[in-house]
Amino acid sequence: MCLAHSPVIEAYARETGLPPFAAALIDTLNKAASAMSLSIGHRLGLFDAMRGGAAETPGDLAGRLGLEERYVAEWLGAVTTAGITHIDAQGRYSLPEEHALFLGEDAPLGSMSGMMQWIGVLAPVEDDIMRCFREGGGVPYSSYPRFHEVMEQEGALTFDPDATLGLVEGLVRRLERGIDVLDVGCGRGRALRIFSERFPNSRFTGYDLGADAIATAREQAGGLGNLRFEVRDCMRMKDEAAFDLVFTFDAIHDQPHPAILLANIRRALREGGVYIAQDIWARTKVADNRDHPLAPFMYTISLMHCMTVSLAQGGIGLGAAWGEEKAFELFAEAGFGEVAMERLPHDMQNAYYVCRP
Ligand SMILES: C[S@@+](CC[C@H](N)C(=O)[O-])C[C@H]1O[C@@H](n2cnc3c(N)ncnc32)[C@H](O)[C@@H]1O
Repeated sequence: MCLAHSPVIEAYARETGLPPFAAALIDTLNKAASAMSLSIGHRLGLFDAMRGGAAETPGDLAGRLGLEERYVAEWLGAVTTAGITHIDAQGRYSLPEEHALFLGEDAPLGSMSGMMQWIGVLAPVEDDIMRCFREGGGVPYSSYPRFHEVMEQEGALTFDPDATLGLVEGLVRRLERGIDVLDVGCGRGRALRIFSERFPNSRFTGYDLGADAIATAREQAGGLGNLRFEVRDCMRMKDEAAFDLVFTFDAIHDQPHPAILLANIRRALREGGVYIAQDIWARTKVADNRDHPLAPFMYTISLMHCMTVSLAQGGIGLGAAWGEEKAFELFAEAGFGEVAMERLPHDMQNAYYVCRP
């Protein structure tokens, strides 16, 4: 058993003779609590406000954001003792520049504080999940009020339009000339919005089960005439040879029956069409994921969301860690004869499968 320790816990364990596993658990408790403070700082704009590195008092920071000083002071206590912000001899707080790179909505290198929101999204269904352990069944999407909002933010971290299109030679030229594109399980439609603005000659369609997600997708699409969204249960998708390019972004593993969906996608493709699936990268066997850098997060989010939403729809509960071996098997069964998997350097979480019939 090996869990990474913070230097403070290491020193405490050395001083007191605390057994290493107990020290690791204390460290885990501190870090889990810090995830909540990071999420709150993200959502309230505290990190974005502290960008620039100037030192200030809790009162100054609270005043600039119109927040309650007592709450801001306590939050600063949490994030400072966690090593995220700094306190000087005058009791003024600052956010080091190298930390600001990863924090807040405007984080230049991608918002890791945005990812911390998952803890707060999942925590409220703990009782429901425990009930499912005892009685079976699943927790439906409707039990997670902020799911689509946080998923959209995660997408901003992992979705790189150029890198995604670069997976298929000549794809940008085809999009420039004009083709039909489908995003299955599109959520709030961020990826399609970006593509439809860039390729006005192509036509873009997004399907999702979530009426709330589709309503937001339509609202955000504004007047883009080449972009449409539909509420659709893709288990029942009937499109035949209607699209030249199909995407799924993190939308296979949490389907009720991924094999049915993949067969539906295969049928929806025209001759010469291509399907690009971005999905969580893992190996299929737990034992092979012991050195996966995100494995505990991946299995926990699967337990608390991806697996259970599939089971809630009467599905098989494939889970986020379905893994590349299972993915190749399911793509082949669905009739994709040519499948290549790539990892992209900007995205530690996902694999990219390029599938052709
Ligand atoms: C993990 S989210 C990914 C959303 C989006 N592609 C993104 O990257 O932000 C999976 C999406 O699949 C949708 N979904 C799940 N089951 C579905 C079904 N049977 N038909 C259509 N969409 C479904 C969910 O509503 C959800 O928006």
